[in-house]
Amino acid sequence: MEVHFLTIFPDFFECAKAFGLFKVAIDRSILSYYVHNLRDFTKDKHKTTDDTPYGGGAGMVMLVEPIVKGIESIEGTYGKQFKILTSPQGIKLDENLAKEISQKEKLLFIPTHYEGVDERVMDYIDIEISIGDYVLSGGEIASLVILDAALRLVEGLLHNKESLSEETFENNLLEYPQYTRPYDFRGETVPDVLRSGNHREIEKFRKKESLRRTLLKRPDLLLKHNFTDEEIKLLKEIQKEIEEIIRRLT
Ligand SMILES: C[S@@+](CC[C@H](N)C(=O)[O-])C[C@H]1O[C@@H](n2cnc3c(N)ncnc32)[C@H](O)[C@@H]1O
Repeated sequence: MEVHFLTIFPDFFECAKAFGLFKVAIDRSILSYYVHNLRDFTKDKHKTTDDTPYGGGAGMVMLVEPIVKGIESIEGTYGKQFKILTSPQGIKLDENLAKEISQKEKLLFIPTHYEGVDERVMDYIDIEISIGDYVLSGGEIASLVILDAALRLVEGLLHNKESLSEETFENNLLEYPQYTRPYDFRGETVPDVLRSGNHREIEKFRKKESLRRTLLKRPDLLLKHNFTDEEIKLLKEIQKEIEEIIRRLT
């Protein structure tokens, strides 16, 4: 995957590439990472990237010209990009969208600031993405969130393919609870089945706990899940356990 950022804060992205998954992906030549200073595409001596809005009102609006010139320069050198504008008005990021993005070969992120961008920028981008229903002060963090979510789905990057397939949101289920050493932490012990070595029982325990926590935390996801016969059986066991707790309480 090749990724570009067209930004007024290049140092922010230079810093991010030195850590975690981004660093691993760069070191393993799975990710080519380029940072472009939007101010290099301005035309005045102050390197201005924003101006007051036509029609008046609070705040500043990012100029269309440096952004379009930046896009044209990057595409002229590196070829056509899938161009992502970060915006609270965009399509909301979820695991499916992250998967779609992970399949793109070349990504260009355009994180913006202030009141947003001149509307005419929309003609030059492929998608507007929001990372949630809240307003951030700028699109840098949003760009990195989108890249992180997509990158970890790129084939060959994470060691354990299995861990991805069992992960939260795969199949509309939340992942089962995980434990590591010590066995006993202040009297709270690890479920014994996980130390039994019985893989069939471990798998069953994990499936049941995955169903239980999805039911309790995100029933909306469960409604979209396609159940196997075994899962229905486990769900009925959970139902009985919950009914028993209610019976004891009332
Ligand atoms: C203060 S916001 C602009 C909000 C804009 N005035 C509006 O009401 O839609 C500045 C920038 O932060 C980024 N941003 C803010 N919230 C975001 C979100 N939820 N997802 C992605 N980017 C966001 C976008 O790049 C946006 O242009």
